[in-house]
Amino acid sequence: MLSEKDFISSQYASIDSAHFRWSAPSNIALVKYWGKKEHQIPANPSISFTLNHCKTITELSVKRKESKDTFSFDLLFEGQPKEDFKPKIQKFLERIETYCPFLKEYHLTINTQNTFPHSSGIASSASGMAALAMNFMSLEKTLNPSLSDKYFNQKASFLARLGSGSACRSIKGEVVIWGNHQETNNSSDLFGVEFTSIHENFKNYQDTILLVDKGEKQVSSTVGHDLMHNHPYAAQRFAQAHENLSKMKAILSSGNLDKFIEVVESEALTLHAMMMTSMPYFILMKPNTLEIINRIWKFRKETKTPVCFTLDAGANVHVLYPQNTTEKVLEFIKNELVAYCQNGQYICDQIGTGAKSI
Ligand code: DP6
Repeated sequence: MLSEKDFISSQYASIDSAHFRWSAPSNIALVKYWGKKEHQIPANPSISFTLNHCKTITELSVKRKESKDTFSFDLLFEGQPKEDFKPKIQKFLERIETYCPFLKEYHLTINTQNTFPHSSGIASSASGMAALAMNFMSLEKTLNPSLSDKYFNQKASFLARLGSGSACRSIKGEVVIWGNHQETNNSSDLFGVEFTSIHENFKNYQDTILLVDKGEKQVSSTVGHDLMHNHPYAAQRFAQAHENLSKMKAILSSGNLDKFIEVVESEALTLHAMMMTSMPYFILMKPNTLEIINRIWKFRKETKTPVCFTLDAGANVHVLYPQNTTEKVLEFIKNELVAYCQNGQYICDQIGTGAKSI
């Protein structure tokens, strides 16, 4: 098992300039990461579906510079300077400096774009940090061609985690586990690992994201994670996540859709229950979030369609369903749920395979 020191690169050549381009997808957790220790170590293990269409595309150009004392970079969003994201990238570079010392030898130009609408309320930090980490690994591989593909991907996930925890689950697909778990031999707190024992029922599983509220969140994920320190139910929650991960692995292997629905919805509501019971307490769901949940429950009961919902740290609803129910569920979404979406907006996505060099 690799440890932190295995990710420190010490041998690397030098080049004048280079250019790389990667896309990385978003992901949706089935068992949620909520609560962390120092250095982006999760308080509990999590598992997610990697998505396919909701992606960040990031280009990295590097040019050798004289001084190696400080990081130097330009940040562009769709070709336009994006000053407000700079502190986040600066912090990311500082966190990964020990592992990628070569970055200080270059002036970096980072140009990024998302395939989903701006300010849709869909977090771009997972896909964004994953795409950037892949570019940094391409640079490292150029400087040290002996790196294996396995190491490349593991270190990319390791770096992405230091940018945003859940980003480490966006490097690979279709299902990724992150965090030490007794029943998962190869699991690690440091990077995500693929879970490959997946039943046919979950092939091309669909995720339609209903955009309920596109506004800026009142409480960021990072602040929410911090509130799990001193949370009255933290210990029970972390134990439950371990149990739910064991259950979810068995469910994904056996194809039991009823059990899938039970664990996924319970996880989503528990995540939001943790927010409501922290101090200070907060609510990220909106009235329309609850309206949609109730309609999904009614539709499921009446039509016996195995459709369920999950939420991340916001008001938007992810509607999850098997590929062979797509027509029926989309019809239901159009007829009954679109009215509760902001400007009627939703995004059709499905399970995907991870980051790509493009
Ligand atoms: C609710 O990965 O965004 O989506 O590590 O502080 O960047 P940071 O947090 P982030 O948290 C995601 C939380 C979640 C659940 C999940 O994706 O597992």
